[in-house]
Amino acid sequence: MEFISNCTADAIANAAKALIDGHLVAFPTETVYGLGADATNEKAVSRIYSVKGRPTNHPLIVHISSINKLEDWATDIPDYAIKLAREFWPGPMTLILPRKELAKDYITGGQNNVGLRVPAQPIALALLNKFEQLGGHGIAAPSANRFGAVSPTTAEAVDEEVGDYLGSEDLVLDGGQCLVGIESTIIDCTGLRPKVLRPGAITEEMIEQVVDKKVEITEGESEIKASGLLDSHYAPKAKIFLNSIAGPGEGFLALSNFQTPVGAIRLASPGSLEQYARDLYLALRSADQQGLNKVVVQSPEGTGLAEAIRDRLTKASVR
Ligand code: TXA
Ligand code: MG
Repeated sequence: MEFISNCTADAIANAAKALIDGHLVAFPTETVYGLGADATNEKAVSRIYSVKGRPTNHPLIVHISSINKLEDWATDIPDYAIKLAREFWPGPMTLILPRKELAKDYITGGQNNVGLRVPAQPIALALLNKFEQLGGHGIAAPSANRFGAVSPTTAEAVDEEVGDYLGSEDLVLDGGQCLVGIESTIIDCTGLRPKVLRPGAITEEMIEQVVDKKVEITEGESEIKASGLLDSHYAPKAKIFLNSIAGPGEGFLALSNFQTPVGAIRLASPGSLEQYARDLYLALRSADQQGLNKVVVQSPEGTGLAEAIRDRLTKASVR
């Protein structure tokens, strides 16, 4: 694996070429790092599954450079989905839509729907544009972690997660720390109303303002398979305990207005919900790096981004 710390236009062009040639390229997005492959290359996509250790019936999100590419992959797109795409792309939102032929079973897990996203991170967008110039249609990319583990929000974390499983011609593009820090909001757009399958930085309130329809929220009951909807996910090795009291030698994570209990090891003191989301996975990683067995987390209260953070914390705490 080659680690690219200076993502010049040349480096990005090489990465796009590597994708066309069937190699894997891990790249930054504004949410988390993705492990990318040419979404029309079955062999390359199958390597994503083996590198991640992920069950093969779990669908992958296809990343595209703009809303103009939507109809390459999706059909019967409802008006509300177009409104959402216009408003929030490029950005931390994935739309699930009825698939076209380009979205094969090895992308959708055999479902008739495909997940699509236009990321906002400049390196990701440059990579997508270059890849499409070379004839590519979309980059399939799950979070670049081993199955069930914490998503990487830095290139070092990508290396830690999957570095040992990548081949000599695969690449990791370093774009620094991801700004949002938790995965995109996933919205099922196959029904009359949008349904949030995974909460994220595009919140229910933001969606309702754009679509004039009540948004449904599913609590992992959807027939649609989404690995992020499994009860246990995003989990570090340390055990996570929510809203209890941290003892000496135990990890502690909370908003900055919470004092660190005596003897506890503070993992992060985010001053806002945005900062909480951004630093969450790094804080969980640092617990593992410090060899902590137990981490107590004060989950944030309220709606919006707080809900998305609680969703990840709840799943990280189940085992
Ligand atoms: O922010 C993100 O979404 C990141 C970055 C890299 O874009 N990607 C990401 O991918 O989180 P992944 O595979 O780790 O999580 C995507 C979730 C999975 O739970 C998957 O099952 C679900 O989206 N998903 C993908 N395609 C789907 C589809 N057609 N129908 C239902 N769920 C789908
Ligand atoms: Mg993931």
